[in-house]
Amino acid sequence: MIFLYLLTWRADPQCSTMKKSALCCMAMLVMAAGCRDKPPIRSSDYMASLPDGEVKRKLIMGCTSCHQMGVPVALRNTQAEWQGTIAKMLKLDEDLRLHLIPLSQQDLVNWLTEHGSGPLEKRNIRIYSDVPVAAATYEEFSLGNAKGFYHDMAISHGRAYVADYFGNKLYGIDLKTKKTETHNIPVSSLPGKPGGAHAIDTTRDGKLWITFTKSEQVMEFDAATGRFRIYGGFTKDGNVQYFVLDADRNIYEDNNRNFWVSHFSKEILTRVNRDSGETKVFATTRTKNMLEASVHLYAAVADSKGRLWYTETHGNHMGFLDPATGRTWEKPMAIAWAGPKRLAIDKNDMLWIPELATGKITLYDTKKETVAGQIELPIKGDYIYAVRRNPYNGDMWATGSGSDSLYRIDPVSKAVRVYRLPRLGTFTRTVAFDPQGNVYTSYASLPNKHTQMPHDSAVILKITPRD
Ligand code: HEC
Repeated sequence: MIFLYLLTWRADPQCSTMKKSALCCMAMLVMAAGCRDKPPIRSSDYMASLPDGEVKRKLIMGCTSCHQMGVPVALRNTQAEWQGTIAKMLKLDEDLRLHLIPLSQQDLVNWLTEHGSGPLEKRNIRIYSDVPVAAATYEEFSLGNAKGFYHDMAISHGRAYVADYFGNKLYGIDLKTKKTETHNIPVSSLPGKPGGAHAIDTTRDGKLWITFTKSEQVMEFDAATGRFRIYGGFTKDGNVQYFVLDADRNIYEDNNRNFWVSHFSKEILTRVNRDSGETKVFATTRTKNMLEASVHLYAAVADSKGRLWYTETHGNHMGFLDPATGRTWEKPMAIAWAGPKRLAIDKNDMLWIPELATGKITLYDTKKETVAGQIELPIKGDYIYAVRRNPYNGDMWATGSGSDSLYRIDPVSKAVRVYRLPRLGTFTRTVAFDPQGNVYTSYASLPNKHTQMPHDSAVILKITPRD
């Protein structure tokens, strides 16, 4: 209890003022209700204060894919300051060949200077993020190196894992004993160069799998033996990105032990055989008037018939591929630059498509091939990176990547509950689950230090809902 109390005390800026009693903080931990008098401004509040429209949506797509934008850390106040920072961000985007930022340096600097600058206390930013939150307890697990970049997390063999994009190391922590482990990942990159560890997910048999967007590899990791199996032969400069998932939040496997990956820089999906390692590339519909590397065919899921559904984040489409016939088509999202991102599928073959730039979730009925509705989340200004389905009870979880929250959505009533993460600047990209009802995420900012926390490491967060 003392440990948890300290965690909350340090985590919650309101609680650090002397007037809050220990009792309040302890009650807060259990109730997770927050001290109501002085809620912090969060990134989503800053984003909500900027004028709506296409420029803002492009800004969200360009500036919230590595870290939160605005408060608490990614904020500048003068044109000269923005100039320096934006130049640096554009160079990063270029060096990593990501094509993430769809606005020019001058447009960004001018727009942010006009709309997003000046002392916070004079800007009258409305705090939309201060909503009622559900009761839960939180436990942080510290592992790995603070300088790393940890895109994803997953659970295998009672351990939680993160992998360092730049440092080519896999870190695990036993969720009971807290014992940590470190594995050198056998990437094919030149010494000192990033393998680009990106997605981490699991197959039905509990094995851990990682994609490497820079070394163009995929690996299976057996947590029981500590062995890696390496898969290669992927399309050059494709940037292997995500595993295609199923409704049980596993990596989708067909009856012939094939799994699938998406590629960040090519409009293709690749099938891989787990046993032979043989790959087969399937082309998807080419998006017109856009450089292929800028489209970002992003994430994909498989429906109950083994047909694949994907998003194109910058290309602004949702798409379809039937591996049996090779038939493929795409549909534009309802508005330009919506930013369809890391989608999920439920047991009714409904797609849950999170839109980074609108902050909404579009529901798409794959059986009727039509949009079935949109879910608005309770925090204005939030940007939603991922939706994940809890296979143990069917609840859908979305990352409140700009509001330091996770949203839990009832799949039938669509009622939303908000879980407030214990830190500021917690940019989240995924959610994982265990059979005991616990929910996990990780602080996935690039740079890691943009999450405001006392840990000099990567962090896995375990959430135990109490409602
Ligand atoms: C490819 C990933 C990436 C993207 C995209 C990105 N950033 Fe950053 N951002 C970083 C990293 C890494 C740092 C830390 C840089 C450092 O410490 O030198 C950072 C730091 C910052 C900072 C802190 C101040 C500074 O200059 O270091 C601000 C402000 C910022 N980013 C704003 C933005 C804006 C605005 C955009 C969109 C135009 C953006 N970022 C897009 C990775 C990114």
